[in-house]
Amino acid sequence: MQDDATTAAPTGFTPDTWAAFARDGILVVHDVLDAAQVDALTAAVTAQKDPTAMNVVELHERFTELIDHPAHTGFVYDVYGEMLKLLRSEYFKRPPGQAIRNKWHYDGPRALPFEVFSPNLPLRIKVGYWLTPLPREDRGNLVYVPGSHHRPYLETYHTHEPHPDERQLLVRPGALTLMWGGLWHRVAENLGDTTRLNVFLEYGPSWIVTSDRNRSDPDWIASLTRNRRIIMRDYDHPNSNVKLFDSDVPLYHRRPDEPDPQEGRYGDHVPPALRKRSTWTERHGTV
Ligand SMILES: [Fe+2]
Repeated sequence: MQDDATTAAPTGFTPDTWAAFARDGILVVHDVLDAAQVDALTAAVTAQKDPTAMNVVELHERFTELIDHPAHTGFVYDVYGEMLKLLRSEYFKRPPGQAIRNKWHYDGPRALPFEVFSPNLPLRIKVGYWLTPLPREDRGNLVYVPGSHHRPYLETYHTHEPHPDERQLLVRPGALTLMWGGLWHRVAENLGDTTRLNVFLEYGPSWIVTSDRNRSDPDWIASLTRNRRIIMRDYDHPNSNVKLFDSDVPLYHRRPDEPDPQEGRYGDHVPPALRKRSTWTERHGTV
């Protein structure tokens, strides 16, 4: 299936939500999915036999639909613009009493972190969809230290020791989270009697390497809509992640209320894919 029509980008950040995300390193948006959407995604997760898997967008149509789901794609498009890529997708089932869970860490490279190059903008954003109730602590919750995304070091790194500034994510099913790649986090014990279910999708600019695949299945890629295919960035030559194809630009039309100061600066001889385009974060002075 090919869908060559481009549309305006879905709604993303407001100055207020960006300010909260930049301050805390996490943005929690409640009640993003309705009950039917939660049920459909829950069924897709429970249909999988393993407790976790990566590159899950290839596994089930409900996961495939998340590649450019309008509830979150506007946010990541606001940061990565025309070079938006899905870097990784995964689901997690965290059953009661699960012993193996993530110690304190931040996502991405540790020996030379993204933060060194990009202190003002994340080079990875992790989108989370939460499918089961997290009304109290120690139910397999995400645990994080708000505002810790610029810290190179945390005293409790690589342990499960509680941190004095930690907070546990408490949400209803259908909540969306955005996490700045450098935010320190871990996973709480699940002392409840139900399995915690969620899905993560990580995005970045196309020139950051994917972390769950080298290539996608060719038949699966051929079945995708235009924008999903572009966001997967399944290219024969790696340099296509740097120099975009003309046919892949634009990914989205700019929003009518968002003039692009880059427009009108190029002669007709410059192909669309070679023209600079501003992102929301640039236009709103966050960088
Ligand atoms: Fe993590």
